[in-house]
Amino acid sequence: MGIDAWVPRAIAQLEVPAITATSLSPVEMPELVDLPQPPLISPVSQDDWALLENDVAGCRLCGLCETRTQTVFGSGNRQPEWLLIGEAPGQSEDQQGLPFVGTAGQLLTEMLRACGLSRDEVFITNILKCRPPNNRDPKPEEQAQCHQHLQRQLALLQPKIILAVGRIAAQALLNTDEPLAKLRGKVHQLGSTPLIVIYHPAYLLRSLTEKRKAWMDLQFALQTYNNNNKG
Ligand code: URA
Repeated sequence: MGIDAWVPRAIAQLEVPAITATSLSPVEMPELVDLPQPPLISPVSQDDWALLENDVAGCRLCGLCETRTQTVFGSGNRQPEWLLIGEAPGQSEDQQGLPFVGTAGQLLTEMLRACGLSRDEVFITNILKCRPPNNRDPKPEEQAQCHQHLQRQLALLQPKIILAVGRIAAQALLNTDEPLAKLRGKVHQLGSTPLIVIYHPAYLLRSLTEKRKAWMDLQFALQTYNNNNKG
């Protein structure tokens, strides 16, 4: 790769004769033992996912564990190019254990389809894995406790682009108080991954006149993805 391996000078100067199988007599040949083999090269093992899913399912780090029906881990492709992160599960999500399955979720699915993306090829999750009672906004301490789950998901997923769905997700991910209007239409970075802020579909259900802006957000995200993944 054009990068020289650094070797300490003391070792580099030693002349070590090459040892080959034929240069060893049969007696000197080391006995072959059944050593445990490292896993085949795979960035993520199933164990990591299983462990994380288990930790999330049993999480009691904040008070939401008392009121949830179940945790909502996230769903979709576990080696995705696109990762969508919403705010928190609502009533339908809490009941079904899946993200974005209520009315807003159906609109999100439509929005994705309009971009040529299916729910199976992206991964969808939320800042919070448990429903806040009466769909109130997540509290800062709930976000802080839940952050470790999202961080572990990000490390496993390694997406090429992240969409922050709505103001709460965008502000949490970018650690800012800026309004959504100022955050959309820009390429942010989460670590080294580009992050685009889009309108939350629940907001669009209330304000259909804003649908055009949402479409522009998605077009912008597609353009960013295509620019970064040419060829
Ligand atoms: N709104 C969200 O932000 N996430 C969901 O999963 C559902 C609705």
